[in-house]
Amino acid sequence: MSTANPYRPRLMRIADLHEETADVRTLELEFAESDVDLDFASWKPGQFGEFTVFGHGECVFAISNAPPSNGHAASQPDPLPTIECTFRSIGKVTTALRRLGVDGIIGFRGPYGNSFPVEDWYGKDLVFIGGGIGMVALRSPLLTVLRQREIFGDIAVLNGARTVADIVYCEEMEQWSGYDGVDVVRTVDPGGETPDWDGKVGLIPQVFKEMELAPDGRVVVACGPPVMLHFLFLALKELGYSPDQVVTTLENKMKCGIGHCGRCNVGPFYVCRDGPVVTWQQLNELPNDF
Ligand SMILES: Cc1cc2nc3c(=O)[nH]c(=O)nc-3n(C[C@H](O)[C@H](O)[C@H](O)COP(=O)(O)OP(=O)(O)OC[C@H]3O[C@@H](n4cnc5c(N)ncnc54)[C@H](O)[C@@H]3O)c2cc1C
Ligand code: FES
Repeated sequence: MSTANPYRPRLMRIADLHEETADVRTLELEFAESDVDLDFASWKPGQFGEFTVFGHGECVFAISNAPPSNGHAASQPDPLPTIECTFRSIGKVTTALRRLGVDGIIGFRGPYGNSFPVEDWYGKDLVFIGGGIGMVALRSPLLTVLRQREIFGDIAVLNGARTVADIVYCEEMEQWSGYDGVDVVRTVDPGGETPDWDGKVGLIPQVFKEMELAPDGRVVVACGPPVMLHFLFLALKELGYSPDQVVTTLENKMKCGIGHCGRCNVGPFYVCRDGPVVTWQQLNELPNDF
């Protein structure tokens, strides 16, 4: 980062927006300043940013699009890449953010945190499992993988939502399923289906079992609410998956995002600095109150 003050956000303009559901929106953001350091505008799949709504505060979102294909190296001058985020309006800052439209100006600082080890996945079969808004954190690694589709084995995407109206990235999922060797399965909780719903009905752990994906070196990339992850891990254990082949991303409450304030840590582990991406094995080694 080039700015001396690590808390100084850079200005970004809302270039476009897309309503995913009644309370979830995707923003496409362009840097509104010309002197942005290239490192600042580059990220890895799984990293997050602190997004400022001026007068209201900051909130943390995953950066949900794939990084520029070759990392926006110094040999690549402008244009700066756009950054995307998808957020649910649940509180003070996100409600204020939702009031902004195209051309609205917000702040961004980041990218922060570690990232998914996408290069370790070369040649392997992958399954991405996203519950509800947890799908947002998987979009960047999934788009990164799809861009280099031939390097990876078979890819499955399992997305679950409470109801049909809560499913995010509906149109994109159609595109993802169009790639060779990519199987997209969507499910809603019992009672959340509509008469014309053509996906599955059932909870993610059960639907995952029905997909009959043997462990065999497969990498599982999962994100969702804690209760979903709890039952998913039980299902994975039953199926013979080992904790080191499962990776997830944590969403503990944060403030500074850069390891200074102690808001997100348990013992020596700071989610903002040492995470948010962790293996199931690492999770097992963390204190119980995590
Ligand atoms: C690494 C990381 C990545 C995230 N990525 C996304 C994302 O891509 N999209 C998205 O919509 N949200 C994401 N979140 C959650 C998001 O940061 C919070 O929803 C947001 O900050 C809420 O701000 P607010 O001021 O609107 O809510 P507040 O007014 O602060 O809170 C409203 C309610 O939400 C609860 N809440 C706030 N933050 C969290 C949290 N982190 N976990 C659980 N409950 C919380 C509060 O306790 C309160 O009940 C992420 C969080 C982290 C730490
Ligand atoms: S959010 Fe401040 S230390 Fe992690």
